[in-house]
Parts: sequence; C-alpha cells; structure tokens
Amino acid sequence: MSHTTVLVTGANKGLGLEAARRFGEMGWKVFLGSRDIERGRAAADKLAADGADVVLVPLDVTSDESVAAAERLVREHTDRLDVLVNNAGAPGHLVNPADTTPEELHGVYDTNVYGPVRVTHAFLPLLQRAENPRVVMVSSGGGSFAVVTDPAQGISKMHELAYTSSKAALNMITVRYAQALPGIKFNLVTPGEVSTGKFTATDMNGHRGQLTVTEGTDPFIELATLDADGPSGIFIDRLGPVAW
Ligand SMILES: NC(=O)c1ccc[n+]([C@@H]2O[C@H](COP(=O)([O-])OP(=O)(O)OC[C@H]3O[C@@H](n4cnc5c(N)ncnc54)[C@H](OP(=O)(O)O)[C@@H]3O)[C@@H](O)[C@H]2O)c1
Repeated sequence: MSHTTVLVTGANKGLGLEAARRFGEMGWKVFLGSRDIERGRAAADKLAADGADVVLVPLDVTSDESVAAAERLVREHTDRLDVLVNNAGAPGHLVNPADTTPEELHGVYDTNVYGPVRVTHAFLPLLQRAENPRVVMVSSGGGSFAVVTDPAQGISKMHELAYTSSKAALNMITVRYAQALPGIKFNLVTPGEVSTGKFTATDMNGHRGQLTVTEGTDPFIELATLDADGPSGIFIDRLGPVAW
C-alpha cells in the first residue's frame, strides 16, 4: 500500500514539528525539512522512536542549492508528493517602519515569500504526479488587511513592515497559484485564532501564545487532508475562514 507523502519545511521545532508529528501519527510518510542537520536529526529521531515513518531532509528555504538537493533526496524515496507544507518562517526584528531598510525586508522576504516560491517551484513536478496534491502555506493573521486594519486587533498596534507585508505577499501568491494551477490545492492557514486574538506559543513569540502547537496545527491538518473536491485559494484558522 502506498502511503500519503508530506514534506514540511521548518519542521525541527514549533508548529512544523508538531504538524510532522501529527502526519506521522496518521501513518503518512513524513519528509521533515530542517535547515540545521543536527536539530533536524534530533527531531526526526524523536518522531521515529514514536513509530513515525520519517526522513530527515536538510532544507534551507533561502538557498536554491539546498532546495534542489532536498528535491533530489525526496525523489529517492518517492515518485510523488501528496502534500507540501510551507511552514518555515522568519519574524524579522520588529523594526519600526521609520527605521526599516530594504535589507530588513529582504531577509524576511527571502524566508517567508521567496522561500515558499522556491520550494513550491522545485517540488511542482513531484506534486503534479500525486492524485490529489495539496499545498498548505503557513501565513499569519498579520498578512490580512482586514486584521491589521482592525483597531481591536493587537497587531494593528505592532509597528513593523517586514513580517506582516511578507505574509500579505504570501497570501496573494497563494491565491495566484490556486487560480493558475487548478490541479493542485493551494490554501493558507494562520496558526492563531483571529476572532479571539490568540496565537500559538512557540520560540517565535517567546512562548507568549495562548494556544498549544497541537491547537495551532489544527488548520494545517484540515487543509492537508482535503478531499479531491475540496477548496483551493482559501485562508483559514482553526475556527474557520479568515478575512483577507
Ligand atoms: N506561533 C504563532 O502563533 C504563529 C502565528 C502566525 C504565523 N506563524 C507562522 O508559523 C510558522 C512556524 O512558526 P513557529 O511559530 O512554529 O516558529 P518557530 O518555532 O520559531 O519555528 C520556525 C521554523 O522555521 C525554520 N526556519 C526559519 N528560517 C528558515 C530557513 N531559511 N529555512 C528553513 N527553515 C527555516 C526554523 O528553523 P531553525 O530552528 O533553524 O531556526 C524553525 O524550524 C512560521 O511561518 C510563522 O510565521 C506562527
């Protein structure tokens, strides 16, 4: 029997690791992406010890060479990729807009915008060989104009340019992929709860979030397990649709 195959980027910790753990628990073959081999090895060994079918994939989403090598490695193990989760993300340095330089934007965009495009582009041939390929893009409520312009949302008072605009770009890129490639589902999640203002406790926010990584990855699982007749080009959190 052939297993569902999934690649998760940035899966050595946080939401990516939890998503990988949950896919492994579902009996899927998990390609665990990690830019640091030792951290990735430790994460993969832990999942394997719990019975997961997991392959460590060294993968820095900012490097063309690393992404190409990752694609070659995955292709040694499978002739198709059912699910790609573009999870790796960088928060930037919360620089005030007045002090933000193009360099600050570039570093964040390289991971959060060019990264998912680099990885998606490289893995398209493997995705196109799957019967019901699904790409899950990990965005943020901060990528939503509706959320950022709502004075009741904390993010409206968090003054920075790089992170929120990178996730807004990712949202548009995902919608454009969905329109252009109807044979593949391209959808977006935020690991928070927009209506309650809650987010997930991870290293990225100094574990100040109110949700567990399991709660935060609920929408990852929902979109990764969509049927062939499921939607493409949607943006959700664990409670439902997120306004653009
Ligand atoms: N936590 C939340 O509530 C929340 C809310 C909205 C959106 N998100 C999004 O959720 C995703 C996961 O974040 P998290 O909260 O789980 O944070 P995290 O614990 O800091 O994990 C981030 C992951 O991304 C990896 N990464 C960063 N740059 C990378 C690169 N160039 N190549 C490959 N991997 C890279 C990190 O690897 P290293 O360990 O090597 O640094 C780490 O595995 C991100 O896209 C983030 O923007 C999170």
